[in-house]
Amino acid sequence: MSSQNFYVTSPIYYVNDVPHIGHAYTSVACDTIARFRRAQGMNVYFLTGTDEHGQKVEKSAMMRSLQPQEFCDQVSLKFREMAQILGLSHDDFIRTTEDRHKKYAQEFWLRLEKRGFIYKDIYEGWYAVRDEAFYAEDELINGKAPTGADVTWHKEESYFFKLSAFQDKLLMLYEAAPDFVRPKSKMNEVISFVKSGLRDLSISRTSFKWGIRVPQSENHIMYVWLDALTNYLSALGSLDEKNPLYQQFWCDTALSPLHIVGKDILRFHAVYWPAFLMAADLPLPNTIFAHGWWTNQGQKISKSVGNVIDPLQEISWLKSTGCSDEVAIEYFKYFLLREVPFGNDGDYSRDNLVTRINAELANNIGNLVQRSLSMIYKNNNGEIVDIQAFDEGQKLLQNGYDLAEKITKKMDEFLYDQAIGEIIHFASMCNIFINNKAPWSLKKEGKIEEMNLVLSTIAESLRLIMISFQSFLPQLSSQVLNFLQVDPKTATIGKLNKKYALAAKHKIFEPKIVFSRITVA
Ligand code: MSP
Repeated sequence: MSSQNFYVTSPIYYVNDVPHIGHAYTSVACDTIARFRRAQGMNVYFLTGTDEHGQKVEKSAMMRSLQPQEFCDQVSLKFREMAQILGLSHDDFIRTTEDRHKKYAQEFWLRLEKRGFIYKDIYEGWYAVRDEAFYAEDELINGKAPTGADVTWHKEESYFFKLSAFQDKLLMLYEAAPDFVRPKSKMNEVISFVKSGLRDLSISRTSFKWGIRVPQSENHIMYVWLDALTNYLSALGSLDEKNPLYQQFWCDTALSPLHIVGKDILRFHAVYWPAFLMAADLPLPNTIFAHGWWTNQGQKISKSVGNVIDPLQEISWLKSTGCSDEVAIEYFKYFLLREVPFGNDGDYSRDNLVTRINAELANNIGNLVQRSLSMIYKNNNGEIVDIQAFDEGQKLLQNGYDLAEKITKKMDEFLYDQAIGEIIHFASMCNIFINNKAPWSLKKEGKIEEMNLVLSTIAESLRLIMISFQSFLPQLSSQVLNFLQVDPKTATIGKLNKKYALAAKHKIFEPKIVFSRITVA
């Protein structure tokens, strides 16, 4: 890794509708990798925002009798609020109706034009407003888009991007950078799409008004996807190529730029976006990760069925079971990343959430914290003893020190669920250890020295568990680190090392219940 700069982006969300579980999911995944890279000591920039132009947004505004801008302002705020409630650590929130973005999108257009990749013609074909996408006749299934969206026939004057000129270049890119699209199975889909032949892409519209004006044109506005994709650059102030943000996070960056997107918008990111960038002679992103979709108790989520999952409602429901704000939010985020391997589709159900959280967090982790720390507090005045010569304990702890390498490997592969699994596995080993050693019996038998060794070993294991959990459960793990008197701000992955072990005489605070059980009446 030559550079320490890491740039991660979420898709920018359409403001035609309020936030749902899909938006929360992508954002939480981005936030977690951003936090993890920071914990590794990298210089991270995490971008999210809203996609505010296009026919879909214009229509939604009209339906509410609002001016599009007024409508966008209202809904964009809801996405900002969601980001705040979920505790996202984004560095910027971009809106495509901001001047900085509009200016850059126009500049990008001019670049493509100057380099000879744009021409004017007539577009005739199918368009699905819901997907904001063009479809060829042979892509339709029973008269609808492959996504199930309704399509209408369009004939209008349009500017075109010479996408067809990039077929071979894209195939060469995929061959040279086999990790450009993750997971691997998705890369194969992209390759076969490109191999099937690329047609030039219509990149302007005249039949409605809500969009960025095409430079030097009276009546054309930019195709919303060309507008939207450039947000990844406009947010870095790329209008000025010397801008340090652009230089660091687009040009001099490791393992990134990383775009995390849902599988439905992979084609735009893995085919159109690199083609636009090649045409503009700009560096390409490093990775596009396409995650799967959530269903609701086995059913596809859809507004018409009325089974859309609202993240804020789920958090409120958790609160109604007695969880505090922080606990409800972090339990919800934990479930999203833990329940389903990233990249696969998954099914959301409250029952599964309760089972998972109670087993892994309340029982496994919560009990370990409570039993060990309260005994240290009560029986040894909150003081840790020297555990370095306690061989059995050191053998156990070695598994915790190994977490640094294990979690890093999993996170490099976007295996969030398995990274968490490693931490849970270590916590289970610690629970077995404490059960076998039974410090409560040692106390009764008067074996105080041994009791202290066991408990202090567990305290050290909790330091390791909570540092490892910092990217996944930032608030809750920080609370436990505070009991341990370990500063969460300095709890980096590098601290998963024996060098930083809790030393003799180190004092801890009295623990309070952090990982509460969910009780559903
Ligand atoms: N505006 C475009 C993205 C432009 S990026 C330059 C867009 N917006 S969106 O609001 O419709 O979708 C945002 C994300 O939510 C997508 O990544 C999409 O995959 C994701 N999800 C929408 N429904 C989902 C589920 N049911 N489950 C998981 N994610 C899903 O597309």
